[in-house]
Amino acid sequence: MTVQLWRVDTPCQSLVVKSQDKRLAEIAYWGGRLSDTVDLDELVTLGQQDVTGGMLDENPPLSVCPESSRTFPGQSGLVVRNSEGHSIYPSFRFDRAEQTPDELNLYFSDQSLELEYMCHFRALDSGLVLARSELISHRSVTVDWFAAPVLPCSQQSDHMIDFAGRWCGEFSECKTQWEFGSRARHNPTGRTGHEHFPGLILPDFAASNTSGVARAVHYGWSGGHDMYAEQLPDGRRLVQFGHARGSYNIPLTHVKSAPLYIAYSNQGINGCSVQFQREVRENLIADTLMGSPRPVHYNCWEAVYFDHSVPELCDIASNAADLGAERFVLDDGWFGCRDDDTTSLGDWWVDHRKYPDGLGPLIKYVNDLGMEFGLWFEPEMINENSETFIKHPQWVLGPVDQIRGRQQLVLNLDLEDVQNYLFDSISSLLSNNNISYMKWDHNRVLPISDERQTLGAYKLIDRLRTAYPQVEIESCSSGGGRIDFGILARTQRVWLSDSNDAIERVRIQAGASRFLPASVTGSHVGPRHCHTSGRSLPIEYRSWVAAQRHLGFEMNPLELDDHERSVVKKVCSWWKDHRDFLMHADIHRLDTIDPAVMAEQHILKEVDRFILFVNKMDTSSQISPLPIQLVQLMPDKKYKLTLVNKNEVHHLSRGMLDIKNGPVELSGSLLMDVGINLPWSFPAQTWVIIGEVI
Ligand code: GLA
Repeated sequence: MTVQLWRVDTPCQSLVVKSQDKRLAEIAYWGGRLSDTVDLDELVTLGQQDVTGGMLDENPPLSVCPESSRTFPGQSGLVVRNSEGHSIYPSFRFDRAEQTPDELNLYFSDQSLELEYMCHFRALDSGLVLARSELISHRSVTVDWFAAPVLPCSQQSDHMIDFAGRWCGEFSECKTQWEFGSRARHNPTGRTGHEHFPGLILPDFAASNTSGVARAVHYGWSGGHDMYAEQLPDGRRLVQFGHARGSYNIPLTHVKSAPLYIAYSNQGINGCSVQFQREVRENLIADTLMGSPRPVHYNCWEAVYFDHSVPELCDIASNAADLGAERFVLDDGWFGCRDDDTTSLGDWWVDHRKYPDGLGPLIKYVNDLGMEFGLWFEPEMINENSETFIKHPQWVLGPVDQIRGRQQLVLNLDLEDVQNYLFDSISSLLSNNNISYMKWDHNRVLPISDERQTLGAYKLIDRLRTAYPQVEIESCSSGGGRIDFGILARTQRVWLSDSNDAIERVRIQAGASRFLPASVTGSHVGPRHCHTSGRSLPIEYRSWVAAQRHLGFEMNPLELDDHERSVVKKVCSWWKDHRDFLMHADIHRLDTIDPAVMAEQHILKEVDRFILFVNKMDTSSQISPLPIQLVQLMPDKKYKLTLVNKNEVHHLSRGMLDIKNGPVELSGSLLMDVGINLPWSFPAQTWVIIGEVI
C-alpha cells in the first residue's frame, strides 16, 4: 500500500488530504490546527475501518468526489454522461500534486475516459479553507452533478443546521437530526433565494453558540445549489455542495465548482461565524469599499414607492440629512414610465414626466446637503410593457409561456447584445450623473437554472465595477434573495430583507450573522406601521435594532413626531460615534435558554472593549430576565459596563440594579461565568451596553 499525505493549515484548522494507492484523494482529517510535528501517518491507521458479513470486501473510499465506479454506497460526487447520453463511471488515478505554504492542488485523471479531475485547497487568513473542484473532459460531456470537494462529517454529532426562509423571513435556521440516508436541499430557482441559503452548520454534541466543537461550510455561488448531508449504511457521514442539478445544461468540456468555504471551531458555532464574517469583511469586500466609513443610508422606497415628485423628494432628503443620513438612495420608479410594477423594466432612461430636467437637480440637491446619491436598478429583468421588450423580445430567458414573477421576465445574460445594452445604458447614467451607489435588485426567481445566467450577471457587475470603481453596489433580491459569497465578492452591501419589522429583523440578523459581518448587512429604521408585518413598534426598538448593522432609514421622515425624530437622531449620532468599532467587530451570538431574548456581543480583535445588544422580542415565560453571560473577555481584567439607553428603563422595572443608575465595574471572569442581570422590560426592547477594560 502506498499513501501520500498533504496538509493545509490555517490559524484555526487543519485539513489532511490522503491518496492511497494513487486513488482519488480523501479528507483524512478536518479539525483543529494540528501541531507541526504530528505524525500524519497515524491518520492512516486511525482511518482503517473493519468490514464484516453483508459488506463489500473493502469500504469504498469517501473521497473528495465519491466514485460510483468504486461502488460508493451514497451520492457520488460526479454524475456525467457521454455524448450519446449514456452514464459513464470514471475511476480517477493520481497524476501530480502542487503545494505551496497556502495552497494545494491535486490532479487526477481517467485515461480511458479522457477525463481530468482537479481539487484545490487554499488556506485563508480568516481561518477558513477554500476548496474547489474542476473537471476537464477531452470530449463533450453532459454533467448532471458535480460536487465541490466532498467532506467527511463528524460522528460526534446528532444534528445539523441549515437555512430556510421566505420573503421577509430570511435566514431561518432548520435543525435536522442525522439519520441514515440523505438530508438533501435542492434550489432550482437559479438564484440563491430566500428559501435556500447555501450553508450548513455541523455542531458536535453539546456545542452551543459559545462553546464546543462546530464545523460549517458555505458554497459561494449565486445560481442555486444542491446539498447532500448523508449518513452511509456503515455510519460514515459526508457533506457535498455543488451547482443545482440542471445548471450545466449544455454539453461541456470544462466544469468548475464554486468555492466551498470551510470552517472549524472549538469555541462553539461563533468560532465558525467569526471566520466567515472576517472573510467577507477583511477579504471579499475590503479593497472595494469607497464610502468608508460606512455612510448612513436613507432609502425612499417605503416613503414614496413609485410616486416620485422632485419637490417632495427634496423635502424628504432635507429631513433625512437632518436625521443624520449620508447617502440618499432613489429607489424604483425613476425610469421609463414606471408608475407601478407592471411596466418599464429594461428601459433604463430617466422618466422626464417625473424628472423634467433629468436626475441632475435632485442629485445636486442631495449632494448640497452633504449626502452621496445612489440609484436603484434591476438590470437582469424586463417587463413586456417596455420599449426594450418591444424591440428585443428575443432577449428573454426561458419559454414564452413561463409564469411571470412580479409581472416581469428575465433577460438572457448569456447574450452579448444584452450584456452590451445593459452595460451601455447603465454606463450612460453613471457617467453623466454624480452617482456613487447602485442598489442592484433581482425581484423574481429564474425560469430555468443555468450556470451561464449567473456567470453573465457576474460578468456584467465585474465590467461595471472595473469601469466605475468608485460606485459601490448593494445586492438586493426582493430583500435577501441573493446573499452569498459569490455576489459578495463583487458587491459591498446586502439588503438583508424587505422586512423592517424590528422583531423579525432581530431573528433574521441573528441568522445572517452566522456568515455575514455587520459592515455589509443593511438594516433600516422603517415606518411607524410596518408595511410588511402590519405591526407598530416603538421607535427606540426600531432604531437600536437597525443600529446593530449598517444603519439606514426607510420611513418617510416627514411622518416622524418630535419624540421619534429625537430618538432617531440620537441613535444615529451614537452609531456614528461607534461605527468604526461596529463595522470592524466580530458578532458573537450569546447563549440563553430564554427564546424571547436574542443577545449578541460585538468584539473587536485586540481591543479592550465590547458592545452588547440584548434584544427582547416577546414576553418571557419566567418573570425576571435571565442573566446574560458574556464571552471572549479577559478573565483577570475588570470592565466598566455602561447601560447606554438607561433612559428607556420602564417604571415597572422596580428592582435595585446598579447598572440602572450608572456604570458598574465587574471582572471578566464573573461576567463570563455568572453573567449580568439587566432591567425587566416589555417586549420590543433592546438594551445597549458598552464594556471597557478599566
Ligand atoms: C424589492 C426591494 C425593495 C425595493 C423594491 C422596488 O422588493 O427589496 O427594497 O427596492 O424591490 O421595486
